[in-house]
Amino acid sequence: MQETAFKALGIKAFYLPFEVRPHEFRRVMRRKRNLILDGFNVTVPYKGEVVKYLRPNLTYEARAVKAVNTVYRKGKKWVGANTDVYGFLTSLQKDGRFRTKDKNVLILGAGGSARAAVYGLCKSGAREIRIAARRKSRVGSIIQDFRKLFSRTSFVPLTLQHGDLKRGLEDVHLVINATSVGVVFKTLQLIPDKLILRSQRGRRLLFFDFVYHEKTKFLKAASKKGHRTMDGVGMLLYQGAEAFRLWTGRKAPIHVMRTKLKEKLDL
Ligand SMILES: NC(=O)c1ccc[n+]([C@@H]2O[C@H](COP(=O)([O-])OP(=O)(O)OC[C@H]3O[C@@H](n4cnc5c(N)ncnc54)[C@H](OP(=O)(O)O)[C@@H]3O)[C@@H](O)[C@H]2O)c1
Repeated sequence: MQETAFKALGIKAFYLPFEVRPHEFRRVMRRKRNLILDGFNVTVPYKGEVVKYLRPNLTYEARAVKAVNTVYRKGKKWVGANTDVYGFLTSLQKDGRFRTKDKNVLILGAGGSARAAVYGLCKSGAREIRIAARRKSRVGSIIQDFRKLFSRTSFVPLTLQHGDLKRGLEDVHLVINATSVGVVFKTLQLIPDKLILRSQRGRRLLFFDFVYHEKTKFLKAASKKGHRTMDGVGMLLYQGAEAFRLWTGRKAPIHVMRTKLKEKLDL
């Protein structure tokens, strides 16, 4: 996707995988000044870990989300940014035609992408955000961080237990799967099918799964009940387009990137 974009704009650049093992990561980041690169992406499991090596040169969003997925050069400095926020919001609002203002949202998961989603939702005026995950401490830490920044949004901590999920789905407008379930545990469905009520006129929810490899059980169950669904392809596309802009200073050629992405993902 990135190389197709470089080519389309006549930029001589390559986008290469750079595999770093956990014990090497520290050394690479400490010597980052010597890296002969114009920019790079950071992915699981280093998005949070990389923050300390880039401080104080972080964008406002990266600082608030406490995760960096894009690093670019500004003069001699490396700057850490989080383009997942932009990718998520653009996909939700542009492709999903979803207006966040005054909406109630249930998010499954409390990892890096859940944090990016919470930030984007608060920034765009969500009324109530319910976060359901298996580790209570992670949910608590997200709520503590974002409550300080956004006083107009209310937060509800939940677990993945039946009763909590039922509560989380009451009067909800948007349901997000921000867990890795769907990639790793393909047959697992975090929300039991019977908790997803059939859509009624004027009460059609949006189910958004950040997974982009395939249509997950989460989306299939929602679709079967007549709800709208979105996968993570748009989010992946837009986060990449924003990273492209930060690296090159030029607007990303979104159409060629989308075509290439779909071709590679076999969609
Ligand atoms: N479309 C895009 O552009 C885009 C961007 C970013 C991420 N993603 C996708 O979003 C997903 C999450 O990414 P991330 O960066 O947020 O990862 P992460 O920081 O590792 O967080 C993963 C979350 O999933 C939860 N989880 C994993 N297995 C689970 C299970 N069996 N049952 C319940 N919860 C489970 C984890 O719970 P614990 O904390 O308890 O382990 C954690 O809350 C991945 O599939 C990733 O590919 C897509």
